[in-house]
Amino acid sequence: MHEWIADNLRATAGTYQTCICAVPFLARKQGHVTVTCDPKNLEHILRTRFDNYPKGPTWQAVFHDLLGEGIFNSDGSTWLFQRKTAALEFTTKTLRQAMSRWVNTAIKLRFCPILEQSVVTGEAVDLQDLLLRLTFDNICGLAFGKDPHTLAPGLPENAFASAFDRATEASLQRFILPEVMWKLKKWLGLGMEVGLTRSLINIDHYMSSVIHARKEELNNNNPPHDSHDDLLSRFMKKKESYSDKFLSHVALNFILAGRDTSSVALTWFFWLLIQNPRVEDNIVREICAVLLSTRGDDPSAWLDEPLQSGELEPLVYLKAALSESLRLYPSVPQDSKHVISDDVLPDGTFVPAGSSITYSIYSAGRMRSTWGDDCMEFKPERWLSSDGKRFVMQDSYRFVSFNAGPRICLGKDLAYLQMKSVAASVLMRHRLTLVPGHKVEQKMSLTLFMKYGLKVDVHKRDLTAIIPSVKQQTHYSAMDEECVV
Ligand code: HEM
Repeated sequence: MHEWIADNLRATAGTYQTCICAVPFLARKQGHVTVTCDPKNLEHILRTRFDNYPKGPTWQAVFHDLLGEGIFNSDGSTWLFQRKTAALEFTTKTLRQAMSRWVNTAIKLRFCPILEQSVVTGEAVDLQDLLLRLTFDNICGLAFGKDPHTLAPGLPENAFASAFDRATEASLQRFILPEVMWKLKKWLGLGMEVGLTRSLINIDHYMSSVIHARKEELNNNNPPHDSHDDLLSRFMKKKESYSDKFLSHVALNFILAGRDTSSVALTWFFWLLIQNPRVEDNIVREICAVLLSTRGDDPSAWLDEPLQSGELEPLVYLKAALSESLRLYPSVPQDSKHVISDDVLPDGTFVPAGSSITYSIYSAGRMRSTWGDDCMEFKPERWLSSDGKRFVMQDSYRFVSFNAGPRICLGKDLAYLQMKSVAASVLMRHRLTLVPGHKVEQKMSLTLFMKYGLKVDVHKRDLTAIIPSVKQQTHYSAMDEECVV
């Protein structure tokens, strides 16, 4: 579907209008959809006339049962208050440290051992499934301070994770039906609505017990107050009168926002590397060069512990490769906005009040007019300064994979930190190959999952061949720098 939309947009210079409900009156309002990926239009919708383009009533109705009026599912003052509160937290160093801690613990104790095991047994793994489990564990740790260990040997079923998955899937099904239809099904208790109600009860039980336990701990100061650095505790410490329902929605909104997005991004990234060994080699060399300077020249010390944030920071080529992967395979391939009053977009398109605008993030990353003739090539170099030493972020209305404007992704920096840690831990230890015959296809969903997962064979990486040349390279660049000084 995303390819088809991208083709349409290429043929229409970046914007077209269509009708998804050919009923005379509705066709000019609810049924009328403007599809665009033009950077000027995106800036207009996401920033310049932000107030005219909220998420809107359809989106909110569909997700209300799962997400309430949380940050992901609200507009206006309800959204603004949560955004301001959360934005303050997201700039703190402690949240970054908390993410580092959750991700590194899961990598060291569970992710790496599972991959090692796969090398020994020769059994292929579904990397997408492993990554989904890993990021679910990380985001639960960050959101409410409890790692549910869904990533563990034997890949156990987890009641909370399954209920969350079923609830998301069932909420998405609501988009397919007119609002009256799914509301009637909910009222009569039919189809997926039954499963949704049951999943919501399970989620509610789980979240209530987490919130209850945390309130007790905070009241008794046991463990001490400041040892809780999760988002839930931070909201609780701000104001004691928040209801349990509100706190539960705060946590669930963050889980939805930060879980599938990073794992899906990493899945496409590893798939692209399998096909681009040159890029993979450059990344491994970059990591080796950093570890050579921080941990000395014994490679066994490089694998003792996951990389620390000071070691991840200089990995600019890796960040470029992750960004390039997100350009071609954005985790959220399209998004939509509701039009409050009649407006004209910068490219001259008239958008009527009551209609909606779909912006194709997938297409935005694949337009020759924006990215040049090589737009379909996987080229991390386009994100680097001419000397190759600095990462250069693109204009956020051209690269919209993290959204843009006042609703830009709050977790962007945390996501890069997490993705770099995971990528480095895999690439330093392993080479991956696609299981012969495995089909890689996109799934129709809000998030760009691979329909059949990513089945890979895991091999041990031999670093001995590249270490001498990395040492030599590092030696020469040190000499260059001395000359400059
Ligand atoms: C590669 C990883 C990620 C990508 C590609 C991504 C992308 C996005 C996108 C496209 C949106 C806008 C969605 C919309 O408004 O409909 C968004 C919003 C958001 N993201 Fe991310 N995200 C990522 C990781 C994360 C992580 C790890 C967190 C949390 C730790 C997070 C937290 C949020 C929040 C809270 C919002 C809502 C912002 C608002 O509406 O004001 N994201 N993200």
